[in-house]
Amino acid sequence: MPWPAQQWSTAAERPALPVSALPGPVVDRLYALARASGDEPLSAFVYEPGRAARAAAELRAALPEWAEVFYAVKANAFPAVLGALAPAVDGFDVSSLGELRAVRAACPGPGAVRTIATGPGKTDRMLRELLRTDVAFISVESGLELRRVAGAAARAGRTVPVVVRVNPGGGPLDGALRMAGHATQFGVPEDALGDVLATARALPSVTPVGLHFHVVSNNLDAAGHAAYVRSCLELSARAARRHGVGPEVVDVGGGIGGAPFDLRCFGELLAATPPPDGTRVVFEPGRRLVADCGWFTAEVTDVKRVGDTAFAVLGGGINHFMLPALLEVALDAAVLPVEEWPYDCPRPEVRDTPVSLAGPLCTPEDILARGIRVPRLRAGDMVVFPLAGAYGWEFSVSGFLSREAAVRTTTVPWA
Ligand SMILES: Cc1ncc(COP(=O)(O)O)c(C=O)c1O
Repeated sequence: MPWPAQQWSTAAERPALPVSALPGPVVDRLYALARASGDEPLSAFVYEPGRAARAAAELRAALPEWAEVFYAVKANAFPAVLGALAPAVDGFDVSSLGELRAVRAACPGPGAVRTIATGPGKTDRMLRELLRTDVAFISVESGLELRRVAGAAARAGRTVPVVVRVNPGGGPLDGALRMAGHATQFGVPEDALGDVLATARALPSVTPVGLHFHVVSNNLDAAGHAAYVRSCLELSARAARRHGVGPEVVDVGGGIGGAPFDLRCFGELLAATPPPDGTRVVFEPGRRLVADCGWFTAEVTDVKRVGDTAFAVLGGGINHFMLPALLEVALDAAVLPVEEWPYDCPRPEVRDTPVSLAGPLCTPEDILARGIRVPRLRAGDMVVFPLAGAYGWEFSVSGFLSREAAVRTTTVPWA
């Protein structure tokens, strides 16, 4: 892709995936969901949480032992996925009150799971609830947020470790979403770091322990990502010398992409340049752990030709699965044939033709994929998109047209 394994531009014609590309338990689950959906067209995410746990174990095994892995819950907050990941990671990275509550609901019990809190726009209520937990640290995005965290901690009668998020001036990284190196809203610019760290040192209810970075998503270049981690360590060491803070913690954020990102090479490069003794290097992967544990499906509600283009209208579009359209990712899709046809009128279909797969919203932007050459596609069939486990259900415009949310469910594991 910029999505894992993407090989097409969004406009390129490409064949539909064969049904055999879908795991059997996923197909079984989708047919069962379609049968149960009644007269509302099906739109659903199906997850196999065990795959997320395996991806986490694979990442852990590749990383040096000084690295810690906190799963970025924003990528997929489905309870069964959180439950499967909990024993496979060092903790969870939450960016909202909703995510904090999702983690606590999925992993109940005091101290069941370690959390860190990152991301812009933390609310007072989120801070209050966070400070009732043993949050490992909170990343602050500005001088004001630092003071608000300090105020909340003082009112809670405690001190809390904080890291300051840096918006670095530049860097060698590429990826689907650049979050630094040009003007973005995230973190504190390098030249303002001294002031923010001095304030942090002076506030009795916070303990500044290091710096936080997150500058890219879905980076596919392992050597580039290792160089980026090294640059975070160097910047942290410089900040420690200049401003006397840390580096107990260097949080290097997320951004590790799917294939062809070479995890083994990444781990070996990191192991060659360890951090100073006593420094914890925290990774916050999202997509890498969950992208391939999910499939999105939507029922075809109509099929038509307009000029030269064949369109299928689906029961769910960018209201349920928006990120690929936003990033212009060329999704792959399979057609799952459904034999039942409940209407007493002819069933529209197209054969051996490229089709644009549109959603049900009143905007021409609501297109999930173009140019999928289908052997046959009928109204009433299902279209299935693999690699839908990350930023799928969570990253959508579900309010538009007030349609129902997509179903979320799991399938049984397979070997
Ligand atoms: C602060 C932060 N950490 C971690 C992540 C996870 O990124 P990824 O899914 O690319 O690993 C994100 C994603 O936006 C983020 O904003």
